[in-house]
Amino acid sequence: LFTAAKSPLTIRLCGPRGFCAGVDRAIQIVVLALKEFGAPVYVRHEIVHNRYVVEGLEAKGAIFVEELDEIPPEHRKQPVVFSAHGVPKSVPADADARNLFYLDATCPLVSKVHKQAMRHHRQGRHVVLIGHAGHPEVIGTMGQLPDGAVSLIETVEDADAYTPPDPDNLGFVTQTTLSVDDTAGVIKRLHERFPNLTAPAADSICYATTNRQEAVKQAAPGCDLFLIVGAPNSSNSKRLVEVALRAGARQAVLVQRASEIDWGTLRDISTVGLSAGASAPEVIVNEIIEAFRERYAAKVELADTVEEHENFLVNRELRHVELTDAD
Ligand code: F3S
Repeated sequence: LFTAAKSPLTIRLCGPRGFCAGVDRAIQIVVLALKEFGAPVYVRHEIVHNRYVVEGLEAKGAIFVEELDEIPPEHRKQPVVFSAHGVPKSVPADADARNLFYLDATCPLVSKVHKQAMRHHRQGRHVVLIGHAGHPEVIGTMGQLPDGAVSLIETVEDADAYTPPDPDNLGFVTQTTLSVDDTAGVIKRLHERFPNLTAPAADSICYATTNRQEAVKQAAPGCDLFLIVGAPNSSNSKRLVEVALRAGARQAVLVQRASEIDWGTLRDISTVGLSAGASAPEVIVNEIIEAFRERYAAKVELADTVEEHENFLVNRELRHVELTDAD
């Protein structure tokens, strides 16, 4: 029987991609807590913004809730884990009031931003937070300080319209997962308007966000399509789609699984860029490569930029726990 030859396709696979040290640590905390304390382990909010990860942990005995009052009284002795995005100060306070045992999986780089916001406040500055309204990280960072101490700015237009309480006493921090280029534009505008604006001691956008964006930027020119593995509520993944388009990819889309790829619309493609947000597991990247191999004569070309060596320790209470293959 005659079968048509598969058309050739190059997949430019970006590195670094996928899990960052903060996501890796947050998942480990849930897995180790299940081993140490047994199921159920409660998790407040999706531990990281990825369904595949969440469902995997649910299968092991984790229960996801949005608020602490969803934890039934009979399970009060079981641990509750706070997600990698960080929480407002009211959450651990509420957990203490309810006598809950909590494990904080806030990424250390988010905690660093919290500390920086608190330092601005202590030094008498009003805090400008550059970030996306409604994102859990933004809610967490705003919730480190009293109501009214932080103003949220999302865009250059917001920066233009902003009226601070005292223009000479302003400090800024940002969400960790923003677009590096867009954020530079917002900060530039704020500096033009408020020359005494104080920057944080270190960049708030984290290493993982920066590196994933840079890798996509370098791989995107000449790509007919750029696929970013990530969830629609994952801030850093959405930014990678924007970066790919701006850097010259003809099309860029966010996909959660290979099954979401709309093959019918993919015509005349010979080069596909592929990367994954910080909360997207590598198994899905492989699943997508396999799906292309079934349809094309695909060869994978590595498009690596920098190597990452970050690794964050889990909470002290869990450091002695050892996992076996069965965990
Ligand atoms: Fe942390 Fe950055 Fe990942 S803030 S959770 S290392 S995306």
